[in-house]
This record gives sequence, structure tokens and C-alpha cells, in this order.
Amino acid sequence: MDQVKIGICGLGTVGYGSYLVLAENKEEIARRAGCEVVVSHIGTRSVKPEQEVGDTRVSANVFAVADDPEVDIVLELIGGEDLAKDLVLRAVNNGKHVVTANKALIAVHGNEIFEAAARNNVCVAYEAAVAGGIPVIKAVREGMAANRIEWLAGIINGTGNFILTEMCDKGSEFADVLRQAQKLGYAEADPTFDVEGIDAAHKLTILASIAFGIPLQFEKAYTEGITQVTIEDIHYAKELGYRIKHLGIARNTDDGIELRVHPTLISEEKLIANVDGVMNAVMVQGNAVGPTMYYGAGAGALPTASAVVADVVDVVRVMDHPQSAVPTLAFQNDHISDTPVLGISEIESAYYLRIAAEDKAGVLSDITEILGDHSINIEAVIQKEPRDHDAQQVLSVIILTHEIKEAVMIDAIGKIEALEAVSGNVSRIRMDKLE
Ligand code: HSE
Repeated sequence: MDQVKIGICGLGTVGYGSYLVLAENKEEIARRAGCEVVVSHIGTRSVKPEQEVGDTRVSANVFAVADDPEVDIVLELIGGEDLAKDLVLRAVNNGKHVVTANKALIAVHGNEIFEAAARNNVCVAYEAAVAGGIPVIKAVREGMAANRIEWLAGIINGTGNFILTEMCDKGSEFADVLRQAQKLGYAEADPTFDVEGIDAAHKLTILASIAFGIPLQFEKAYTEGITQVTIEDIHYAKELGYRIKHLGIARNTDDGIELRVHPTLISEEKLIANVDGVMNAVMVQGNAVGPTMYYGAGAGALPTASAVVADVVDVVRVMDHPQSAVPTLAFQNDHISDTPVLGISEIESAYYLRIAAEDKAGVLSDITEILGDHSINIEAVIQKEPRDHDAQQVLSVIILTHEIKEAVMIDAIGKIEALEAVSGNVSRIRMDKLE
């Protein structure tokens, strides 16, 4: 084999970035892959004036690339779910290998796509779907293959991390920072995917599958975004020695798998608490290696293209004998486990609570009595200066608790909110020691 032909579907940020990396690094890539890798066909509605693709064939219809008998590997870089799924299945059923950066596609339709790939004896590679340029799929799937993976936790949405960092460092308001992130091109086409945690849940679903050898189960991931995080909470957390980060956490417990995305208080002493701006980081704890951490750019044209093209090289190396490729979900297909994914009420966590309460005798003891009745152990309590609020003197009571089942905490919060001296909802943020 002297040459492998690539078809790129989608010439947006990642598609054109991949085209550029394949061209710019073609000699290094050929030395690694063992043959020349050339882009022979591009599927895009339009090539922008600033994009230079030489005399590469261009089709407006991406399916023309999936049907092109010359193309060996199709890069699915159009994003979205439905069209991308049809395109990937078409390529796979045509006997072509596929590389994709599409986290939603893999998290939601991955089981079906991987089955089709196995039937057709082709590879579907997806390193770029999680944490952009960080080779975390390879690290977990191959580098940690000796381990029983106990848990992983990651900052896996750059936009969310950028927003929380700006709120923490500059006291900026959520909406202003989101607008800035959109202008800088970090956010998804639909930014609710970033701020409501959906993008992070897609990525966590994939990481959990390859860490624990379970099917992709996006619908079971608990997903909470950052829209309810206030500057007040960020500042109180900081005062107590914590940072609020939007984390995806997957943990293999005796009762089942925890799969959850939500704002989380983590000690400022943890390395991951200091991962700021649009950067991503994933911690993975293996029972042999202990804690490991992977850090880098989670988005952007060239970092994401770096992961796409690395997958191309991997596929080229095994395309003559795809059955010897690393299993798509890290574990052999007939050894995928049916360990249940736990509902959020079944998880155990420590909590940060902020309660708005009238400044009068007995309020604090009413609150702590409710927590005591629920066997919730308090780690710290602080009470902030009363501020004038609707003509009443209202103070903020901040409580950090030890670990307790979420269902018990929800019940206790309901009882605290029902106290006459307590106004509004209790602000509740999970805490994690990442140990
Ligand atoms: N919108 C995503 C992020 C892009 O902010 O991380 C990469 O998946």
C-alpha cells in the first residue's frame, strides 16, 4: 500500500484544521503511518474564500464522499446527530473506515455504529470527540489497560470552564462571559449544550464506557449545567479554600456506576482546581497506577485536528487487519458489562449549602437539628454578615457537610426550606475530594 485516500466531510473549524495538519505534517505522518496519506475528496456546501484546498475534488453532498470508491477513510466532521449518523453508517456499510470528532454521535448512537463497524470489519475512531487535543481515549483505553479503573473526573467543556474562571477571577456576570466565549469561538453552535452540561455529559458517557467496559448510556447520565452558579457561591467557596468547577465524574462503586455532570467544589490544593480558562483536564484513578491526570486544549481547530489525524494514522496502521485493532470500547465486545448506572438520588456526596435565613435566635440550631436528624455530619459552618433584603435582615448560612446519600440530602433541604425563617431555595453544590 503506497497511498491511503482520505475523504473529509465538513470543512468547518475541525475539518479545515485536519486538512491543514495532513498537508503541513505529511512527511511525519507518512513516516509514522508507513505510507502516504492524501486527501482526495472533500464534502462541503462551500469552500470559504480564505480556505485553500488546491485541486482536491469537492462535492456539495457529503454522501458523495461516503460513496466514493477511491476513499479509504472518511472523516466525519460535520457535527450534529442525524445527518452524521446516516453518513457514518453509509461509509461503514460501504466498507470504509471512519474517524469522527462527534461526541454527540458517539454518546447517543455509538453502540449501533460500533456494531455496524464490527459487521463490516472496519474501524470507527473517535479520539477527538473527548477533550479535543488531549489523547485521553488512548491513555485510558491503551495506557491504563492493566488497571481496574476506579473513577475518573474531568473538566471536559472548555466554554463552561472559561465562564467559571472569568466569574471567579474577574467577578464577571455569567451572561457577559458567555457572550465573550461565543465571540471567541469556544461555544457549541447551540451554547445550551455547553452551559447546561450536555456537551460534557456526551464526553463523560464515552469516557465511562471505555473506563469500565459498559455500553454507551448517555440517557442515564445526570446532567446539571452552570447556569445556577452565582458569584456569591464562587466567592464563599474561595473563602473556604475551594474552587467551583464543572466536572464530569464517573465512579465504579459496589452498587453500580455513578455517571454525573455538575458544578463541584474541589479543594484549591488539587491540581485540577487550577485548570483555568478554556483548558480541559481529566483525572483517572487506576488501582495499579494510582491517580493520573491529562491536561491540554479541549477545543480549537488545530488541537482537535491533532486528535483526528492521530486516529487516521492509527487506522492506516491496522486497516489491512482491522480485527487486530484495539477494541473500540477498550474491552472485548463479548465482555462488555451490564453493571447498572445509578440514579442521582443513589449517589453519595459531600455538599456545600447556602441558606438565606433571618438573623434571629434559634435559626441556626433549627437548621443543624434537621441535618442531625438526617444523620448529616457537618464539616464547617460560617455565617455571613446580614444584608438588607426586602426590609428584613437576612444572613447567608454556609454549611459544608460530610458525605451522605443524595436522597437524604434532598429530604433535609426540603425541611430546611420549609422553615419560616428561611427564604427562597437552598443553594446546593456537591463537593468532591477526588481521592
Ligand atoms: N464547545 C466545546 C467546549 C468544544 O467548549 O469544550 C469542544 O468539544
